[in-house]
Amino acid sequence: MKKILIAYHSQEKGNTRKLAELVARGCKEFEDVAIDMVNVYTIRVEPEMMERADGYALGSPDYFSYMAGGLKQFFDDMCLADWAGKKVKSKPYVAFMTHGGGGSGIKSIEELAKAMKLTQAAPPVTCKGAPDEAAAKLAVELGKKLAQAVLAT
Ligand SMILES: Cc1cc2nc3c(=O)[nH]c(=O)nc-3n(C[C@H](O)[C@H](O)[C@H](O)COP(=O)(O)O)c2cc1C
Repeated sequence: MKKILIAYHSQEKGNTRKLAELVARGCKEFEDVAIDMVNVYTIRVEPEMMERADGYALGSPDYFSYMAGGLKQFFDDMCLADWAGKKVKSKPYVAFMTHGGGGSGIKSIEELAKAMKLTQAAPPVTCKGAPDEAAAKLAVELGKKLAQAVLAT
């Protein structure tokens, strides 16, 4: 059984949580994949949970054209976990973001994922506000692509 960690920050309206749930739906289409889902705005992810994951789906609202604090903390903790010898690097990942009309903050997730040597399994999904039907479809596909990448590792 492979494990995917969906770590997302959602705080204001639950928009990013909705997108995260759609990504999870895509992952769940594969019976050999189990999911951990954490809203990193309220819960800090332990290094052991990061290490257990075979891949990551990382989501955030756009805050000031950057990722929100909870996800930044996740990356900080991932770096520290790596330095402590935990196996957290070099795994497949996908990124997703909701925004109020901008969305350029997605680049910050991609940059830090690159710093952690994560491999992007598919291009990121972004949407304005809560996911509409088109964004929902893309988010489910994103989850499927991550699951496929994880199963191939
Ligand atoms: C502090 C703060 C900063 C924000 N900065 C931006 C921004 O720079 N660009 C943008 O498009 N939206 C911005 N937004 C809007 C949020 O990204 C958007 O409402 C998002 O969908 C909220 O996600 P959530 O409901 O999951 O918390 C900001 C919102 C807040 C609260």
